[in-house]
Order: sequence, then structure tokens, then C-alpha cells
Amino acid sequence: GRVALLGVPIDMGAAQRGTLMGPAALRIAGIKPVLESLSIDVLDHGDISIAQVAPATDQIPANANHYRDIQAWTRTLSPRAYDLAKSGAIPIFLGGDHSLSMGSINGVARYWLEQGRELFVLWLDAHADYNTPLTTMTANMHGMSAAFVCGEPGLDDLLGEEPRASITSAHLDLFGIHSIDPLEKKLVHERRIAIADMRAIDEFGVAVLMHSVIERVRARNGVLHVSFDLDVLDPGIAPGVGTTVPGGATYREAHLVMELLYDSGLVGSVDIVELNPFLDERGRTARVAVELIASLFGQQITDRPTPSNTLM
Ligand code: ARG
Ligand code: MN
Ligand code: MN
Ligand code: MN
Repeated sequence: GRVALLGVPIDMGAAQRGTLMGPAALRIAGIKPVLESLSIDVLDHGDISIAQVAPATDQIPANANHYRDIQAWTRTLSPRAYDLAKSGAIPIFLGGDHSLSMGSINGVARYWLEQGRELFVLWLDAHADYNTPLTTMTANMHGMSAAFVCGEPGLDDLLGEEPRASITSAHLDLFGIHSIDPLEKKLVHERRIAIADMRAIDEFGVAVLMHSVIERVRARNGVLHVSFDLDVLDPGIAPGVGTTVPGGATYREAHLVMELLYDSGLVGSVDIVELNPFLDERGRTARVAVELIASLFGQQITDRPTPSNTLM
């Protein structure tokens, strides 16, 4: 298989600066050699920059901090994500805060929809990121990216001329959630979004819950985008994020999620977001992220029968 790495050094979507150093830390933690050790061809496209973007003419919406910055990143990233998906490689977007998913998912989804395949999104996160400018308590746009991707109103001109992919809330699975704002929770329930919160994970375990995520995608011949926010992990193993919440996924739960995703053969693209090296402890969080990516791309403890993997 082939993987395309693209760094997206963005930190204006979060309250805390520093995630712009995330792509560098993931490279130093060895993301490329680790994937190569799994016999994957890896092409690192470096970091994107937003220098070339045309000036926007729309009005700045209320309750959307650093809207112009995020808009420029999103308009730049979406067509790049489309091109990378079209190249036949599996793109891994190295963040960067979670607002980057507005661009990465839009571009990748547009490519798959052209191929007649629906894109499903697995949101591994402590947070739902399902706020809109009307529901947010912080105005931080990394808390709005899942909602934007699902077509919720409020940031309608963010993409400008860049075509908007039609994904709906029925294509989203929230997984590992353990922090949600009151109005955000109301909206998630109104939309009947599939959600495996930490309570469900404690009660049923990640294997049973992942099985239903995977079966839903498979039943519709879909492709899965994994949007991996490192704050889904317990802060004890992943301290290097801006919005830590106690009670996150354990090391073993997270590896099992990744292993099951690999076995599914359905993963077509990945975001790794919210790594903040400024807050990390001697690279621990960057290292754990790379170890989990290894499991997502086929690293196994003992060899298992080769899964029927269509995309990797
Ligand atoms: N729900 C909170 C907000 O809207 C936190 C969002 C955190 N998002 C993240 N990608 N870490 O601000
Ligand atoms: Mn600010
Ligand atoms: Mn997030
Ligand atoms: Mn989060």
C-alpha cells in the first residue's frame, strides 16, 4: 500500500497555541520509518502553507474565533486532500488542531463521492466537536469541525468556491466521547448521531462497539475516514494536548480500535490532530500517536491471517 503524509500546521482553531508544531513532532517520533517497516510506500509531502489563498469576501460570522485563518486553511487543504485521495494513496493529515478536518474530510469525501462511494467518518475524540456558532461556549472552531463536515449551518461560506461535499450526520460515528457541551449534546441527540461514549465503552468494550461502526460502513460499501483526536486517550498516556479530559481511552483500548480498523480494510484516510508538543512530556504523546498509527496500518503482536484489505 501507499501512504501520503501531509502536515497541516494550524493552531488558530484551538484556545491554546502550539499544535502547529505537531507535524514536526510526529515526524521526529518516526511516523515515516514506522510505516515503512510495515512495507508501506510513504511519500511525505511536507507541510501545506496558506500563502497563495485568494482574499475572502464573505462576512465574518459571530462566535467563530480566527475565522479568516481557518477559512484560508480550509480552502487550501480541501483541494489538496482531494488530490491526495485521487492519487490512490491513503492520506494521513498531520495536525494541527481539529479544525483541519473541515478541509481534509471535505476534500476526501468529494473524491469518494465521485467514485460512487459514500465516506463515513469515525470521530475518535474526548469531544463531539459538534458545536455551531449558535451552540458554542468558547467560539473555538476546533469544537465545530464535525458539525461543519455534516453540513450544519452557521459557517456556510467557509469554503467559498471550493465545492462542498455532501456528508450528513448519518455518516458520523462519535467514539470515546467524554465531554460535551449542553447545547451541543442537544444537537447531537436531535440529529440521532451514532455515539459510543465512555460509559458505553466501559459497559460493552471497544470491540463490540467498533464492530457496529464497521458493519454500518461495510453494509453500504462505504469508505471510512478516521479523525483521531489524541485527547480521546487518557491524559495519563497522552498529556500533550490542549484540552485534556480525565477518563479517556486506555493504551490497550486504543490499540484494539486501531487493530480492528486495520482488519476491516475500510480505512481510506486519517487525521491525527491536537498534538501540542509545547505541552507534551519528552515526546510521550507523539510516540504513542505513532505507535497507534502502526497498529492502524497493520502492526501485529503475532501474525494473523491476512485480512481482505481493499484499500491499503
Ligand atoms: N466543546 C468544547 C468547545 O467547543 C471543546 C472542544 C475541543 N475540541 C477539540 N478538538 N479538542 O470549545
Ligand atoms: Mn485568539
Ligand atoms: Mn476534536
Ligand atoms: Mn478533543
